[in-house]
Amino acid sequence: MDAVATPDIILKLSNIESYYGPIMAIRGISLEVPRGRIVTLLGANGAGKTTVLKTISGILDPQKGAIEFMGKSIQRMEADRIVRLGLSHVPEGREVFPFLSVRENLMMGAYPRNDRNGVAEDLERVYGYFPRLKERINQPAGQLSGGEQQMLAIGRALMNRPTLLLLDEPSLGLSPILVKEIFAIIRRVNEEQGMSILLVEQNAKVALETAHYGYVLEIGRIVMNDSCDRLMHSKDIQEFYLGAKEAGARGERRWKKKKTWR
Ligand SMILES: Nc1ncnc2c1ncn2[C@@H]1O[C@H](COP(=O)(O)OP(=O)(O)OP(=O)(O)O)[C@@H](O)[C@H]1O
Ligand SMILES: [Mg+2]
Repeated sequence: MDAVATPDIILKLSNIESYYGPIMAIRGISLEVPRGRIVTLLGANGAGKTTVLKTISGILDPQKGAIEFMGKSIQRMEADRIVRLGLSHVPEGREVFPFLSVRENLMMGAYPRNDRNGVAEDLERVYGYFPRLKERINQPAGQLSGGEQQMLAIGRALMNRPTLLLLDEPSLGLSPILVKEIFAIIRRVNEEQGMSILLVEQNAKVALETAHYGYVLEIGRIVMNDSCDRLMHSKDIQEFYLGAKEAGARGERRWKKKKTWR
């Protein structure tokens, strides 16, 4: 990997270590997101994917290492300031405001902005991406289906018009058709708005088809990184993450588990 920082690097993590109390969850991670690219972070349950995103967005402070966003050091910055710099995080499990309407949820995403025209424009853009949200504009978010809540969570993050979007397992608990729909939107957002995206996924197939570059995380460490084309053809990835029988069964189990949980 080319480790030289250039203005074209939107996000750069250098040797990040993060802990939960005494437990070391991230064990020295370095990665980069270039401008206008989709980068994916793959790994099994408990590998540390969510922890990496939490560390980037300031929910968790790293014990060691450096994080640069647009050339600015953010590893000691409060989460709210990081959002205002243009970095939005769609957390695992969506976390929409259940008692607020769809529209109110979306407007919450625009709270750092005061360009009213731009906000109105982005609201229409989000409704364009997700027409189903427009149909449910006044409905409390808690009454939406899981897939619609995922759309709302992504839409709310887009309302900040971020330079970098962090997505934590957007496929979780969704039917295969909805997964296709959501990932097509993720690609459109990247292509139409040039938005850089760091995509955490356990569904390696869809992530590798969507992203340009990928990192594989195992027990808090990066064990592989390459273009998605090359990762897709790598023997290890095929065996451990794309094994047709295995991966299918795993995905199916997760989907079922999530469906009953909802
Ligand atoms: N709040 C917490 N307190 C203590 N340990 C935690 C906490 N959150 C996560 N961990 C531990 O940190 C490690 C990494 O967890 P993380 O949630 O980042 O994994 P993940 O790759 O996102 O997994 P998944 O695919 O299941 O979402 C795991 O061993 C987990 O048990
Ligand atoms: Mg996770």
